[in-house]
Amino acid sequence: MTDKKATLAVDGLDSPIELPMYSGTVGPDVIDVRALTGKGYFTYDPGFVSTASCESKITYIDGGKGMLLHRGYSIEDLAENSDYLETCFLLLHGELPSQDEYEEFVDIIRNHTMVHESIARFFRGFHYDSHPMAMMCGIVGALSAFYHDSLDINNPRHRLISAHRLIAKMPTLAAMCYKHSQGQPFMYPDNKLSYSENFLHMMFGTPCDDPKVSPTLARAMDKIFLLHADHEQNASTSTVRLAGSSGANPFACIASGIATLWGPAHGGANEAVLTMLNEIGDEKNIDKFVARAKDKDDPFRLMGFGHRVYKNFDPRAKVMKETCDEVLGELGLEDDPLLKIAKRLEKIALEDEYFVEKKLYPNVDFYSGIIMKAIGIPTDMFTVIFATGRTVGWIAHWHEMLTDGYRIGRPRQLYTGEAPRKLASRESRPASQKSSF
Ligand code: SDX
Repeated sequence: MTDKKATLAVDGLDSPIELPMYSGTVGPDVIDVRALTGKGYFTYDPGFVSTASCESKITYIDGGKGMLLHRGYSIEDLAENSDYLETCFLLLHGELPSQDEYEEFVDIIRNHTMVHESIARFFRGFHYDSHPMAMMCGIVGALSAFYHDSLDINNPRHRLISAHRLIAKMPTLAAMCYKHSQGQPFMYPDNKLSYSENFLHMMFGTPCDDPKVSPTLARAMDKIFLLHADHEQNASTSTVRLAGSSGANPFACIASGIATLWGPAHGGANEAVLTMLNEIGDEKNIDKFVARAKDKDDPFRLMGFGHRVYKNFDPRAKVMKETCDEVLGELGLEDDPLLKIAKRLEKIALEDEYFVEKKLYPNVDFYSGIIMKAIGIPTDMFTVIFATGRTVGWIAHWHEMLTDGYRIGRPRQLYTGEAPRKLASRESRPASQKSSF
């Protein structure tokens, strides 16, 4: 923190308001506006475009440079030289593990991958065609009914075992959602397999065969989990922090993050990108869709493009595109029609002045769906994969908030509703001027 100050001149006040300013390691300075309430003012920032909701040491994004750091390490470096579970350790503990620490962490996670047998009965209540994100919202929230031994959020040991359980069980639950939709038996985790191999085994294996997971697809899956691990104060992470600030248990907080991620403006975009590419159907239709995306009167947006923070390339999109080329090349799918449409669409958009002027670049969701489709994952499971990868980020922020000290999150508002008025008897009232809903 520094001793810089901001001076705010306010109409109607005799003297300006002095507000402290703080500097981070990198990034914009922040102005501490907490004193404004005592002066009778609120700040106003719908969508939190200019608001720092907290102090954090986990992830840093420079949207202008297209930079993403996890505990100081670039996403490119981690994607190239690390793996998902090592990145989980880094996000949770702030440093990369030694070889012994890594092996111990992998072993801990491996021994939490099973879920209580009663969980299987929950799925019987869902129709086979229930959206897997609907199932995940319910099932993950319900985990708090099974772990009464670790719900004291003020106990660091409870927080750590909850983190291990959630990281370990999300792939198992995700695969159960898929198996339920296919009418196939649930697969138990196989502790001889790595984290991502195990996930693909639980997704596509059957009790009739020995595990056979392609190393190429397992590597691609691991990279997808890694690229989705954390992204500072995005909508779902902010929701997890807000839920956690009320003292809710970790499973309920993560369920709130899953619910928020589901929206097509956020984690639901990967599913929406595939739907859009299928709707475009042929490269000759691209111009029509780009025109629709630019039309103010058309709600259609180019899914997988744009970002609140990145006003340059999303570095994850670059890594995802490289992985896409690798995976489809190794699978002999480099001529995949959707990939060709995606690449053509990206080229057209990046050369179009509307997208250039508004600094709309491909984001993490633009290519991820094409890889997941090549792996054999159905479109409605894409956001479940995103939630599985992002669970460690949600937990890391939840833990950081509880460790650093917090108050319950309670934003205020600019009220523009009715002034105080008396209630007349119903008999005497004319037809209401009710607003349309
Ligand atoms: C994720 O926050 C995170 O970090 C999220 C995430 C993470 O890892 O957690 O990175 C994951 O959510 C990635 C984003 C996935 N969503 C999409 O791909 C959906 C399509 N994108 C848009 O809906 C939009 O770009 C957002 C939601 C991502 C960002 O919205 P903002 O910051 O509120 O920007 P905006 O809506 O105010 O757009 C600014 C302008 C607008 O035009 P004007 O009103 O200024 O004339 O850009 C236009 C928008 O109409 N615009 C687009 C567009 N995105 C923005 N126009 C066409 N196509 C688009 N995709």
